Amino acid sequence: MALPWVLAVLSLLPLLDAQSPTCTNYTVPITNATLDQISGKWYYIASAFHHLEYKESATKFKASFFYFMPNHTEDKIWVREYSTIGDNCTYEFSPLTIYRENGTLMKYENGTRNYGHLMLPKDRSTFMLAFFPEDPQQIGLSFYADKPEVTPEQMEQFYEDLRCRGMKKSEVLYTDEKKDLCKPLEKQHEEEKKKESERTEKD
Ligand SMILES: *[C@@H]1O[C@H](CO)[C@@H](O)[C@H](O)[C@H]1NC(C)=O
Ligand SMILES: *[C@@H]1O[C@H](CO)[C@@H](O)[C@H](O)[C@H]1NC(C)=O
Ligand SMILES: *[C@@H]1O[C@H](CO)[C@@H](O)[C@H](O)[C@H]1NC(C)=O
Ligand SMILES: *[C@@H]1O[C@H](CO)[C@@H](O)[C@H](O)[C@H]1NC(C)=O
Ligand SMILES: *[C@@H]1O[C@H](CO)[C@@H](O)[C@H](O)[C@H]1NC(C)=O
Ligand SMILES: *[C@@H]1O[C@H](CO)[C@@H](O)[C@H](O)[C@H]1NC(C)=O
Repeated sequence: MALPWVLAVLSLLPLLDAQSPTCTNYTVPITNATLDQISGKWYYIASAFHHLEYKESATKFKASFFYFMPNHTEDKIWVREYSTIGDNCTYEFSPLTIYRENGTLMKYENGTRNYGHLMLPKDRSTFMLAFFPEDPQQIGLSFYADKPEVTPEQMEQFYEDLRCRGMKKSEVLYTDEKKDLCKPLEKQHEEEKKKESERTEKD
């Protein structure tokens, strides 16, 4: 008889859940090693925001990937970001300022400073940013991975961190790699860079 077995397993689930992933810290200083760890290509997977403008902005993103290029001496991360917003690919090249002591990255946009607290889960092929972590009315969490598809375990860590910060799974906005329109532009940039380096080699 299968039913009692299913019920028994289901009743165990909350227990297992409570034991597996743990809350990820956000107040961790950023070191050179951290910067090495987060440099390279990342995909924006999902996010949840209570802050209305952040939430509105996130709903427009169908897909997004970006390159983090940290500069250890000037404490900046240069970002090449390819986002599919509506039916368009938009490209942005901009810096994030690194505040090592409080583990935050700051993006200056439209006259405002936006702070994201870097969170590094145990799985190093993912990272998160926390926004307004102390303010339940404005709090937000965004989730990134080095591949466009994440594993159930990686996703579960994000859900767990949402729970840790008082947010719900139902608030999550997901991106969809299949809707990405930026690959041609990325390819074009790569070819331009290749030509550029060939030119410099000849000179
Ligand atoms: C989070 O940070 C606190 C204080 O620095 C530390 O005691 C704790 O062990 C950290 N937790 C994890 C999971 O790293
Ligand atoms: C980092 O920034 C400094 C100061 O602006 C610059 O001199 C240096 O070339 C940069 N390093 C890299 C790897 O871009
Ligand atoms: C971090 O790296 C930069 C550039 O390589 C170096 O100047 C600086 O001393 C390093 N900082 C630490 C704490 O190792
Ligand atoms: C996409 O680009 C077209 C042409 O530049 C523009 O008219 C349209 O408003 C853009 N759509 C979005 C959602 O940004
Ligand atoms: C982090 O530290 C910088 C420099 O001290 C400060 O300007 C900024 O407000 C701090 N950010 C947060 C979110 O605490
Ligand atoms: C910047 O502000 C203008 C005017 O308030 C707004 O239309 C625009 O969407 C803002 N851009 C960003 C990236 O927030």
